[in-house]
Amino acid sequence: MISILTMVAALTALAYAASSQLGRDTGALTSHSRRGKSDAPNGYVPGRVRCPEPRPSIRPAQDLSPNELAWLERRGNATMQAMMDVLDRVKIPDFDAKAYIRSVVDSGLMVPRVGIAVSGGGYRALMNGAGALSAFDSRTPDSTSPGGLGGVLQSATYLSGLSGGSWLVGSLFTQNFTTVDSIIHSTDGFLSKLWEFNETIIEGPAGLSVRDYYQELQDSVDDKYAAGYNKSITDYWGRSLSYQLVNATDGGPGYTFSSISDDTAFKEASIPMPLIVAVERPAGQYLIWENSTVFEFNPWEMGSYDPGNPAFAPLRYVGSRFANGSLPSSEECIAGVDNVGFVMGTSSSLFNQAFLQIAKVEGAPDFLIRSINATLAQIGEENRDVANWPNPFFGYNVDGNRNANTTILSLVDGGEDLQNIPLHPLLWSRRSVDMIIAVDSSADTRSHWPNGTALVATYKRSLLGAGNAQNNAGAAAFPHIPDQNTFVNLGLNSRPTFFGCDQANMTGPGPLIVYLPNAPYTYFSNVTTFDLEFTTEERQQIIYNGYSVATMANASADSRWPVCLGCAMLSRSFGRTKTDVPAACADCFARYCWNGTVNSADPGLYEPSQIVKPSGAALTHSLTTFSASLCLVLFFLHFVLLSG
Ligand SMILES: *[C@@H]1O[C@H](CO)[C@@H](O)[C@H](O)[C@H]1NC(C)=O
Ligand SMILES: *[C@@H]1O[C@H](CO)[C@@H](O)[C@H](O)[C@H]1NC(C)=O
Ligand SMILES: *[C@@H]1O[C@H](CO)[C@@H](O)[C@H](O)[C@H]1NC(C)=O
Ligand SMILES: *[C@@H]1O[C@H](CO)[C@@H](O)[C@H](O)[C@H]1NC(C)=O
Ligand SMILES: *[C@@H]1O[C@H](CO)[C@@H](O)[C@H](O)[C@H]1NC(C)=O
Ligand SMILES: *[C@@H]1O[C@H](CO)[C@@H](O)[C@H](O)[C@H]1NC(C)=O
Ligand SMILES: *[C@@H]1O[C@H](CO)[C@@H](O)[C@H](O)[C@H]1NC(C)=O
Ligand SMILES: *[C@@H]1O[C@H](CO)[C@@H](O)[C@H](O)[C@H]1NC(C)=O
Ligand SMILES: *[C@@H]1O[C@H](CO)[C@@H](O)[C@H](O)[C@H]1NC(C)=O
Ligand SMILES: *[C@@H]1O[C@H](CO)[C@@H](O)[C@H](O)[C@H]1NC(C)=O
Ligand SMILES: *[C@@H]1O[C@H](CO)[C@@H](O)[C@H](O)[C@H]1NC(C)=O
Ligand SMILES: *[C@@H]1O[C@H](CO)[C@@H](O)[C@H](O)[C@H]1NC(C)=O
Repeated sequence: MISILTMVAALTALAYAASSQLGRDTGALTSHSRRGKSDAPNGYVPGRVRCPEPRPSIRPAQDLSPNELAWLERRGNATMQAMMDVLDRVKIPDFDAKAYIRSVVDSGLMVPRVGIAVSGGGYRALMNGAGALSAFDSRTPDSTSPGGLGGVLQSATYLSGLSGGSWLVGSLFTQNFTTVDSIIHSTDGFLSKLWEFNETIIEGPAGLSVRDYYQELQDSVDDKYAAGYNKSITDYWGRSLSYQLVNATDGGPGYTFSSISDDTAFKEASIPMPLIVAVERPAGQYLIWENSTVFEFNPWEMGSYDPGNPAFAPLRYVGSRFANGSLPSSEECIAGVDNVGFVMGTSSSLFNQAFLQIAKVEGAPDFLIRSINATLAQIGEENRDVANWPNPFFGYNVDGNRNANTTILSLVDGGEDLQNIPLHPLLWSRRSVDMIIAVDSSADTRSHWPNGTALVATYKRSLLGAGNAQNNAGAAAFPHIPDQNTFVNLGLNSRPTFFGCDQANMTGPGPLIVYLPNAPYTYFSNVTTFDLEFTTEERQQIIYNGYSVATMANASADSRWPVCLGCAMLSRSFGRTKTDVPAACADCFARYCWNGTVNSADPGLYEPSQIVKPSGAALTHSLTTFSASLCLVLFFLHFVLLSG
């Protein structure tokens, strides 16, 4: 995963940068002022709310929640139209995709179901993922022009994020599913507070002195603690993330993840369903096994379908004192534990490590360091990366729930089990996902490019088999995935690759995986994972590169790419309807599907060079036009790329 050396180097640089900043900005305590409280129910402090009828309870993870089942029906209606639009635009030759989708619906079959999974990898992952989502978003200017893929996001049913990817997903959904484009091109005062990565998270946002920022972080965490909740470094980390990712000057301490379920657009199912992933690390266990229990947060619930803790709790009421699966009549309903920053912080708890460097910074205010020290002393140094959640599964299903006897649920960074792409929730067979676009911004190789390690981890887990496998009952089959050397040798990590094209060659029903590895199309976006500061220019470049990865530079690296992605969306549906695969799609599958070839020889250093030279206009959101000579270069390049 992340080499210790890289991390130490990054953190040293970070501490240095922060100390120079602090040196000139610590005297402003006098201007300290608390922000106004937000409405839900008491800012960052969980609080009592009126209980709904029926009272909240824990349910077994046998099926999807009634909420999700009802939502999926509505979502099918919305994706049907979006999918017709996008397929109509990409135009699969000699195939009437609109008529096909209509006939699928008329015969009562499921509209092809698409999921998008955005990997971890810190700000690099947020930005590269943001580029991909903006490419897939029909609201992005020009994304629906020829070569564009706008509408794929609107066709997706699920959008999952993990660690850095969860910052992207959490931020967009907290902002009413706004567009990436409107965040990064905004001149609006409020909007420009979002994703201002040039103001590091260690120093806080512009307009707030470092000391006031620290004071606000400390106040909210202490208030939660004083109210009787355990705290962890993740509380500080999550609060600080919110200042960059939530559209409120004080990082919106009252914003919850469960409040997304009240958004009109989400309720109407006109936008996808967000999922955030974290991994459980039981008390006293410091290693993450490949069979660890994977938790998900969705707008209604948190929980897992893995055998370690096969149950779900209503997210809004997670802080209530559940016992044996229900809330005793003597207990009140508690809301507000699922602060959106805390959810994103939980999924990215590896960054607690980076946050702790604050304490080493010369001039850091004593009050904060004492507070952090006390937190570390209480939870133990070795638990610095955990997020302590009140355990709603206490006493529930004692024989089939490993967490039945603990009042605390310890969750850690979703990538700590090496499954750095949040595929897990999309592989629950009940969700019937046909195709998953796996946006991989991992830093696997020495120069911080992905090499398939995340897919290999999920593949290995799928092989564990019943009994030990966390996956036994509910998991869909996962495609065969070759080793990382093969990824590099065949170039599977430098261009889009499909896995599991042949459903018959899999161990059971399961999705086709469209792997979208980060690669240098227009910019070297392989910045290190613990880099916490970017100029606005770098941010735009990395996001634009992500756009180019997803579109293969507006199809200039392969004019057939949009058609091929359309074919991948339909592939499983063709199987269900026993439809002959259109010739153009067969070509696509020959081109993009991994065909089982393995080359495990040591590939040596992987140092890709830039695929497309940036044009001057690369940063505007208009399509980049390439000169004739550049097209010629690309023409040859695509042979090089595709011949492996
Ligand atoms: C789907 O759309 C049709 C036609 O617009 C409508 O009649 C139907 O109620 C919708 N179904 C759901 C579950 O929203
Ligand atoms: C941020 O909040 C301001 C003020 O409430 C609002 O005008 C703006 O549209 C919001 N931006 C997003 C992206 O939601
Ligand atoms: C959220 O966005 C939708 C458009 O997708 C808009 O109709 C709605 O008014 C927005 N809600 C808020 C609270 O801004
Ligand atoms: C960060 O970028 C914003 C907008 O581009 C600018 O207003 C601000 O001064 C920058 N901050 C720093 C510390 O450079
Ligand atoms: C806090 O953590 C301790 C164990 O470390 C646990 O016994 C206690 O119940 C927790 N308190 C709350 C309110 O969750
Ligand atoms: C995972 O595997 C280890 C080693 O085989 C085993 O000891 C442990 O109980 C398993 N954990 C779960 C949650 O199944
Ligand atoms: C915090 O802890 C560190 C080491 O654990 C110690 O050196 C330092 O003095 C402590 N600081 C405060 C303010 O308690
Ligand atoms: C929890 O405690 C009960 C009774 O004390 C015991 O039977 C059960 O095995 C324990 N479960 C776990 C996972 O430790
Ligand atoms: C792939 O990534 C893993 C994990 O970082 C690393 O150990 C391995 O050396 C890499 N292999 C190649 C061929 O890049
Ligand atoms: C980014 O990748 C290039 C080669 O593709 C390499 O030369 C450079 O050192 C890498 N940068 C980082 C920060 O790893
Ligand atoms: C499979 O792909 C490799 C390159 O990845 C190619 O060399 C080989 O010819 C292909 N085999 C078949 C049967 O298409
Ligand atoms: C097909 O399945 C076999 C094992 O059954 C596996 O070795 C091979 O890699 C699979 N081929 C593809 C393209 O997934």
